[in-house]
Amino acid sequence: MPYAVLRGLGAHLPSRRVTNAELATLFETSDEWITTRTGIRERYWAPPGQSTGDLATEAGRAALKSAGLDEGADVGLLIVATTTPDHLCPGTAPDVAARLGLGKAAAYDIAAVCSGFVYALEAAANAIRAGRVERALVIGAETYSTILSPNDRTTSVIFGDGAGAVVLGCGAGDEPGRLLGFDLGSDGTGKDLIRIPAGGSRQRSSGLPAAEDDHYFTMQGKKVFAYAVRRMSDSSRTLLESVGWQADQVGHLVGHQANLRILRAVAEQLGLDASRTVTNIDKVGNTSAASIPLALADAAAAGTFRTGERLLLTAFGGGLTWGSAALTWPDIVPV
Ligand code: UT7
Repeated sequence: MPYAVLRGLGAHLPSRRVTNAELATLFETSDEWITTRTGIRERYWAPPGQSTGDLATEAGRAALKSAGLDEGADVGLLIVATTTPDHLCPGTAPDVAARLGLGKAAAYDIAAVCSGFVYALEAAANAIRAGRVERALVIGAETYSTILSPNDRTTSVIFGDGAGAVVLGCGAGDEPGRLLGFDLGSDGTGKDLIRIPAGGSRQRSSGLPAAEDDHYFTMQGKKVFAYAVRRMSDSSRTLLESVGWQADQVGHLVGHQANLRILRAVAEQLGLDASRTVTNIDKVGNTSAASIPLALADAAAAGTFRTGERLLLTAFGGGLTWGSAALTWPDIVPV
């Protein structure tokens, strides 16, 4: 059976940088509140006219380049994890595949909110393990700025836009970059904690027009915070046990960048020193499905990872959903 191996990593951020100081002119908030409660200093919001699919295409192109591949390379599967697809129908992935010249690649979206990238990574790794495809492109891409309510200062200061992507290929033996295992889960009883009330069939089937605010993203932050810490810690422990790693053998924890306090709490629960926790939330905010590949790219560009070291990825999001992945770090340079 072939193994799935990480072969390329790409990242793309929109051009518009939004600082806490700028947000303090738009909402009743302050740089001090945002940094102490979340760890975020700035984030990027896509300018009008730029969509999730646009960011995903750029990140996908960068990941192909990082893997030493040209556009139009033989990639049999493309998955886009996103909460903010270009349209409710069709999926964003086929358009991105076409724009990258991927021919007849299978292409679909995954909607697991902030856990989406880990879900997509698992699906792509399984397709490679099963011998169905030799290469896959997995992209996490978001434009949350398009679903943030101008009346909600709490969500508006947290979320940012961006896209990150990885190329998976077939490997054998113990080569660095190998994806060793996953733990995924959900708890739909918490479906109302994170949601966009309108736009889907639940609202439309009521036969009533949606209230204007119902098209925006909502989150019950305090409840989500507690869930996030518990689920990411539990999922990480489950995965460590299944792959036979002790926590002290993990080189770096790359968690979903939801809140610096959440990341610190998860690291503490796992007994990992803060120096082994990757954080880039200060620079990009919470980018949901794009968060983990953007954190990987940022840390890799800074030379944080040693080739062959063990990485633990863990995420939590709406659904509720959670997911963790174990891999070793390959000898690649992000683009
Ligand atoms: O990515 C998917 C998963 N998402 C998460 O994991 C997010 C998890 N939740 C969180 O990160 C935190 O709950 C938040 C950052 C969203 C909020 O932080 P908090 O410490 O839980 O604050 P809070 O909601 O309890 O609000 C505390 C106070 C309130 O004022 P009072 O009632 O104490 O007077 C809020 O009205 O802070 C106020 N507040 C703000 N003040 C200034 C809320 N948002 C803001 C703001 N600026 N932007």
